[in-house]
Amino acid sequence: MRQHPTIKPRRPDFKLREVPRYWQSGDPVATHLSNALFMLFPAGERFFIRSVRRYESRYRDDPARMKELRGFYGQEGAHAAVHDEAIRILEEQGYQVRDHLDRFEKVCFEFLEKRLPDVLALSATAATEHFTALMARNAFDNPVFTEEAHPEMRKFMLWHAAEEIEHKAVAYDVLQDVNPSWLVRAAGMLIAASALVYFWRQGIRTLLRQDGISAREARERIQALRQRSNHDFMRDVLLKGILEYLRPDFHPWQVDDLHKAESFLASLETSPAPASA
Ligand SMILES: [Fe+2]
Ligand SMILES: [Fe+2]
Repeated sequence: MRQHPTIKPRRPDFKLREVPRYWQSGDPVATHLSNALFMLFPAGERFFIRSVRRYESRYRDDPARMKELRGFYGQEGAHAAVHDEAIRILEEQGYQVRDHLDRFEKVCFEFLEKRLPDVLALSATAATEHFTALMARNAFDNPVFTEEAHPEMRKFMLWHAAEEIEHKAVAYDVLQDVNPSWLVRAAGMLIAASALVYFWRQGIRTLLRQDGISAREARERIQALRQRSNHDFMRDVLLKGILEYLRPDFHPWQVDDLHKAESFLASLETSPAPASA
């Protein structure tokens, strides 16, 4: 069951400056649902890299695991860099997102990283990686959103999704080596789920407010989007993710969806990504 795919960072060329402001079906609400999540990636992914890197010395004599870790750093670093560019474009379009992102970075780097034990930061990373893996699987299984996205954003989302699947067990395997306690795993999930839901919602509000869309209008449009796409984040990612992850025998490769990632990645024309952030 446990797989160790080759984790290869790739850096496709994205023409994000050609992407229209409302790149998801021309709809501000659908677009900002994704933008608000994507804005969290640069700080989030750098936090993931740092929380795993703290335990790297355990693997100095294990070249296969070291290669896996470097692949993970390289992929997350490349994702963070492209999402950084997407944030710059949002700011150039006039959106004020810096205060919101500063608050998120403070929670990651001032609170979680400095105030909590290292193992909880690692555990929060492993849990968040489970959410990103579920979202990635959904991007391939339920392609309504990606099919209606601008082609450059579709390529960007599927590249990120595919690499999330490829490296989905890296942080979890390190956590199991460092501390396999179920309580530590559950505490990481509590931190990850709370931070993700809170900051994602705040991001959606921050962006929609600046487009003059009220919270009520947004709720109605989100409900309609859920019905049309047959996808509900709270039910299909959050709740499902938490329940799966808390099973005592959970492992990310119990669901083998690597073939979905591989067939997409094989179709990408890429150049190698830099080694890490
Ligand atoms: Fe990523
Ligand atoms: Fe990841």
